[in-house]
Amino acid sequence: FQSLVLNVYGSFLHENSSHNILQDPSPFPSDFLFGTASSAYQYEGAFLTEGKGLNNWDIFTHENPGKIRDENNGDMAVDQYHRFMEDIQLMTSLGVNSYRFSISWSRILPRGRFGGINYSGIKYYNRLIDALISRGIKPFVTLNHLDYPQELENRFQSWLSSEMQNDFEYLADLCFKHFGDRVKHWTTLNEPNQQIILSHLKGKFPPSRCSLPYGNCSQGNSETEPFIAAHNMILAHANAVQIYRTKYQGEQRGIIGIVVQTSWFEPISDSIADKEAAERAQSFYSNWILDPVIYGKYPKEMVNILGSALPRFTRKEGEILKKSRLDFVGINHYTSFFIQDCLLSSCNAGDGASKVEGFALKLDRKGNVSIGELTDVNWQHIHPEGFRKMLNYLKNRYHNIPMIITENGFGDLQKPETTVKDILNDTKRIQYMSGYLDALESAMRDGANVKGYFAWSLLDNFEWLFGYKLRFGLYHVDYTTLKRTPKLSALWYKNYIGENIRRG
Ligand code: NOJ
Repeated sequence: FQSLVLNVYGSFLHENSSHNILQDPSPFPSDFLFGTASSAYQYEGAFLTEGKGLNNWDIFTHENPGKIRDENNGDMAVDQYHRFMEDIQLMTSLGVNSYRFSISWSRILPRGRFGGINYSGIKYYNRLIDALISRGIKPFVTLNHLDYPQELENRFQSWLSSEMQNDFEYLADLCFKHFGDRVKHWTTLNEPNQQIILSHLKGKFPPSRCSLPYGNCSQGNSETEPFIAAHNMILAHANAVQIYRTKYQGEQRGIIGIVVQTSWFEPISDSIADKEAAERAQSFYSNWILDPVIYGKYPKEMVNILGSALPRFTRKEGEILKKSRLDFVGINHYTSFFIQDCLLSSCNAGDGASKVEGFALKLDRKGNVSIGELTDVNWQHIHPEGFRKMLNYLKNRYHNIPMIITENGFGDLQKPETTVKDILNDTKRIQYMSGYLDALESAMRDGANVKGYFAWSLLDNFEWLFGYKLRFGLYHVDYTTLKRTPKLSALWYKNYIGENIRRG
């Protein structure tokens, strides 16, 4: 396969040799991070190994196998727990200088605060961190990426309870204490906005709770729940940052941020109503989290529409939020949508049209014109210009706060007729990445203060409800043998990094 890939790659490069990185000087500063991203549940496997406790995804996938494509789960995932040395070798051959991974909460605290520490788990991350550093790859650690000990669900309904804040602080403190001497890049939570939408608004992810108007799951159905859960996540984040600032940062000298999911929302027309709707869509999505963690308050559009359904920060909490100001914002970005107003005009109910999403309807086309080619992922449209606009929007709203692109990538769905050769020959992924990296370069030339870029993902992996059939990797994983093979995009990314990274 490798020689096949190299041949196809040769002709691909030839056809695409006018790519602008060959003409323009690189806008990337010398300390720019180039990496790949991953998460514990999607990668590690070893779900019952060496003292790990069960987490919400272990339980969800085992109790509801039908909810995951092909009834799969992350029991084995890509077995990074046992194969991390091999994976670091792949990173070395890509030439990346950083690796984003998350801590499996139930691996180091099998029962949260309510049981002991699992030192085998601590040892695993120590080995991973040391191995990365010894090869010149900076560990970039997410404290929590969707998985938490099931104990916390059973005891107090996880993020619906303020108790969860205490557990998260406990986790954060433990990680700073054990890993902070070597980890200099931290993020607290991965995509709290998207997590809450899937877990507490649409009921698709555990704990499968719904909010209006998606009342088609067995639990939930309260307009306030998503906002309570998000409130707890925001405060948990702020308290973790406070712990880092007061107990660790002085000595350890790292930086800390949060990761949000962003989509660019383009008004479908020039009307004021649609422009305001696009602004509301941003506020009910990424600003929902970023305004509180940066400015200590929710966006005014949310306050106006949700009224008392939106929790309030006490004065003290507002102070902590402002004091715990981020060192950087982690941006996950994959796609764009058109937005149509549903507040002043009536719309057909649909994704995003409801009160809890700001009465802003998401559409992927304007008449016959698509916002960008739809990939195999039903939510992903290729629209690099939206990425540039998004970064400029964030630059303006948050006073040019440093940003790190913590995820960007392209998913392709494996169909019955798809061959391994098709998967390896992933020219569409290259086109996607090339377009989005061009947009990133443009945004940086516009003045966006971007400090790093992580491709999602190093390997094909467990893509939540899509199971293993939706592949985001630069490397193909054969799920029978777990063998990793570079796709064309791995070679492309290696080349891109080689031309843009400044070492030394
Ligand atoms: C964002 C999530 O953080 C990650 O877990 C997921 O695999 C990618 N999006 C792709 O859907």
